[in-house]
Amino acid sequence: MKPPLLDLFADAQPQQAPRNEQIGEQSWVLRGFALPWLDRLLPALNTVLAAAPFRQMVTPGGFTMSVALSSCGTLGWTTDRSGYRYSGNDPQTGQPWPAMPEVFVQLAQAAAREAGFAEFVPDSCLINRYVPGAKMSLHQDKNETSYAAPIVSVSLGLPAMFLFGGFERSDKTQKVPLLHGDIVVWGGVDRLRYHGVLPIKDGHHPRLGEQRINFTFRTAG
Ligand code: SIN
Ligand code: FE2
Repeated sequence: MKPPLLDLFADAQPQQAPRNEQIGEQSWVLRGFALPWLDRLLPALNTVLAAAPFRQMVTPGGFTMSVALSSCGTLGWTTDRSGYRYSGNDPQTGQPWPAMPEVFVQLAQAAAREAGFAEFVPDSCLINRYVPGAKMSLHQDKNETSYAAPIVSVSLGLPAMFLFGGFERSDKTQKVPLLHGDIVVWGGVDRLRYHGVLPIKDGHHPRLGEQRINFTFRTAG
């Protein structure tokens, strides 16, 4: 039998290596997952930032964070000398945080579903801006009312080295390089793992310039 002249379905075959990398029992890196969403994501981000601009916050210990923050959704994560907490209002404007754009919610839910968390309803999106040299020390996300929902963390712009640790600060960490468009999801038994970001290296990203932007979606309330 002669082979067909044209294999109409050649392009539809799964040719690529798996794009989902498992980094914990219920933790995944979804490579490039946000890329098809960018044209909708970036204008929505600009709208949020016009109402709630990036600002550097102070930790309870009195240190100014190197990462600048904003938030959208019904709750925004904040820090000042009196502690870490979620607040319905932006402390800078006294106004409610901007609503979470529909495209943010859809992306967060699609990524959570891909990682095995079907019913994710984020009410908070922390927006972190890293310039070269900015970093995030190892910490647990534990200001949320419940730990039932996963964390969905979207990376845009300059690359980062993400540290994914255990349940004690001193536990060994995995080094996970994160590129523009990658999403990390962790939840369930991994929900309280320590994590952080090494200082961002100098560089220029064609779409975002000299910065890394991270969205961290959570169910906080
Ligand atoms: C965070 O833990 O809030 C940020 C993580 C990241 O920037 O990748
Ligand atoms: Fe975190």
